[in-house]
Order: sequence, then C-alpha cells, then structure tokens
Amino acid sequence: MSKRTIVTMPGDGIGKAVLDETLRVLDAAGFEADYVEGDIGWEFWKKEGDPLPQRTLDLIAKHKIALFGAITSKPKDEAFEELAPELKEKGLVYSSPIVGLRQHFNLEICARPCKTYKCNPLNFIKRGKDGDIVEPMVDVVIFRQNTEGLYGGVEWSNPDAKVYDALMSHPKFKKNFGHVPVEEVSVSTRIFSKERTENILRAAFDHAKEYGYKSVTLCEKPNVIRETSGMMYKMALEIQKNDYPEIELWNTNIDAQMMWLTKVPEDYGVIVAGNMFGDIVSDGFAGLIGGLGFACSAQWSKDGIAVFEPTHGSAPKYADYDTSIVNPMAMIESACMMLDFINEKEIAVKIRKALADVIEEGKVKTYDMMKMRGKADVVKNGAASTKEMADAVIAKL
Ligand code: NAI
Ligand code: MG
Repeated sequence: MSKRTIVTMPGDGIGKAVLDETLRVLDAAGFEADYVEGDIGWEFWKKEGDPLPQRTLDLIAKHKIALFGAITSKPKDEAFEELAPELKEKGLVYSSPIVGLRQHFNLEICARPCKTYKCNPLNFIKRGKDGDIVEPMVDVVIFRQNTEGLYGGVEWSNPDAKVYDALMSHPKFKKNFGHVPVEEVSVSTRIFSKERTENILRAAFDHAKEYGYKSVTLCEKPNVIRETSGMMYKMALEIQKNDYPEIELWNTNIDAQMMWLTKVPEDYGVIVAGNMFGDIVSDGFAGLIGGLGFACSAQWSKDGIAVFEPTHGSAPKYADYDTSIVNPMAMIESACMMLDFINEKEIAVKIRKALADVIEEGKVKTYDMMKMRGKADVVKNGAASTKEMADAVIAKL
C-alpha cells in the first residue's frame, strides 16, 4: 500500500516548534507518511498579501488531511503597515486564514476533547464534602459548530439603506434601536442553518455513542435566543428521541454551564454548541485540564477534509527564543486525533499512553507544568524545553 500524504502547516511563531516535535513523535510511534508543507500565516500576508495562498488550498484539497501549528493575526491597521511596499496600493484587506480555511472547505464540525491526565500538576482541584481536596477526572468532548453563527462574518457598521430598512422592519429593532443614528449602529449576525445544525448535533451524538458517553449536553440559551438556540434545542430533542434514545440529552444554558464546569465537571460527557458558545465552553473546560499546553482540536467537513491543530496561538513572545520552551502536548494530542480520524487508532493509543506515562512520572515538565512564568531562562531553571518534552515522550514509546 502506498504511504499516505499529510499536509503540514507550521504557520507562525511557536507553530513550527510544536509541529516539528510532533512529527518526531509520530515517526517514533511507527506512523509512516509523506509530508508536504503548506504555506500559511503572517509571512505570506506580508510577502504576498495572502495569508492563505491558493497553492495551500490546492494541497489540502488533494491530500485531505492536514496538521496545523498556529498563526499570528493582527488588527487591520497593523496588517496594512506590515505589507510589502509594492502591495500597499492594491486594496488588500487581511482576514484570518483559519477562519478562511474553515469557510473554504466547510470544516463545519470542530471537536475539542478535554481529558484529565493523572498527576498533571495543572489539574483542577476543588473541596469535597468534608472539606478535603478532590481532583475530579474530567472527560469531556466539546462539539462546536465551526462555520456559522457569530463567526459567519455577516456584519455591518453604519449599514447601508437596504440593510437598515430591513432591520427597521423588525418591531424590536425599531423599538430598541430606532432612535440610534445609523452611523452609530453596528450589527453582527448569528445565523444558523438547519442542515449544519443537524450535522453538528449528529456528530456529537455519534461520538457519544461510539465512545460510550452517557449524555450529550446542549450549551446554548434557547429561552432568550429563541430563533437560533431555540431551533437547535428543538432539533436536538427530535434527533435524540428518534435516533439516540440510549443517550440522555441535557440542556444547560451557556452561562450556567460556565458555573457548573467548576463545580461538577466530572458529570459532563459530550457537549454540543454553536460557534461562539462552543469556543467559550471549550476554553473553560481546557482550563480544568491544564490550559493551552494541553488543548487539542480537530475540524472536518462532511466530505472528509480534516485539519488538526492545538487551540493555542503562535505565542509570538516565545517565538524567537534560542530554545523553544512551549509545551508540545496540545499539538501531539491533535496529531492523535488525526490518527483516530484516519483509522490508525492503535498508534494513537500508544502515543496517548506515552504522554500519560511522562506526566504521571512527573520528571519532565515544561514551564507551564512547573507554574513558571514563560521566559527564556526557564530551561536553565529546570523546565523541559519543547524538544526535551518530545524526547521524553519518545523514550516512553
Ligand atoms: P497564544 O495562545 O498564542 O498565547 C497565549 C499564552 O498562552 C502564551 O503567551 C503562553 O503563555 C501560553 N501558551 C500558548 N501556547 C502554549 C503552549 N503550547 N505551551 C505553554 N504555554 C502556551 O494567544 P495570544 O497571545 O492571545 O495570541 C498570539 C497570536 O496568536 C495572535 O496573533 C493571535 O491572533 C494568534 N492566535 C492564533 C490561533 C491559531 O492559530 N489557532 C489561536 C489563538 C490566537
Ligand atoms: Mg478560542
């Protein structure tokens, strides 16, 4: 059988360091693939005026599976300033290549697992009934709709007459905002479509079924955001009743969920939400299992294009250190999600076991696990570098 080709997109800042170390781990675990590198990120914006060049889209369309590090994004004005001089007259406007990737390939399903590793010094702890300290084992997977809702990009400031008139035709707009001068009005829409709402709900239920979770929790706000959250809730009830009667459907408002996750995080299994609330609740749970150094994610389309990435960004302040200090685990775990996706589950199990062994042994810890402030001297002060952490994982393999 011919080897599979994976597109690697290091991106900016620490993206390259964590991706390079992850490829070493994959190799050591016996995963065989050819890798082709895809250009993405700030450098390509500056040089070419496009942070997501067409050639990268073509590579992903061809090979379907991609590992992605992280990119740097900057506000509009700064983005313009940093453009190559010859591009400045072209009227180019920066937009995030990650959002671009999601929209281009309709990577509508985003999964973000948050699972406690035993002995991780960053684990969430709380007081038990008798005032004792308890460490709940969190095992949650958040399914976030990845392309619609508040991130759909349908928004206006000082909307033109057509849009304004349409808004004014809504009695609540007229009553609550009709007195505001149009040039002081900004609108960001939250649009949900039935088809994609159904797709994310079903992805969540399918995952619960396949991996034996007893519940799916919808985290929206149907009592207030009646049209979008309300539709999602109604559809969830229907889908659960007809196709997943063995799995419980829980309905928790997003605000209440943010409280419950610090009280009884161990009670939750699969969580499903729209784009913005999914983003929020996944960062909330990630905080309980160690934060950005551990938070991994996968995003995929119905036709099998998939991109796997840590949820952290490019951490530019650490990017120029001679020795990279950041934790590669989030990227390594994202690669494990890739292995699950392409049915290399045994290798994923091996790597996850190696990660768990390193953490439980507690000898090798990156600066975040030692609760140090991230600085160039952390390695001198006993923290493992990115490479040393990967070496420790490889040694366990
Ligand atoms: P960030 O995630 O890059 O860094 C925030 C802080 O988290 C860091 O300063 C560091 O203390 C910690 N951190 C991040 N990754 C870590 C790791 N692997 N190990 C240990 N500690 C880690 O977010 P920030 O500073 O808000 O954004 C920096 C740049 O990244 C911006 O340009 C932003 O737009 C971009 N960004 C890109 C994302 C992506 O590529 N998916 C996601 C989030 C931000
Ligand atoms: Mg986020």
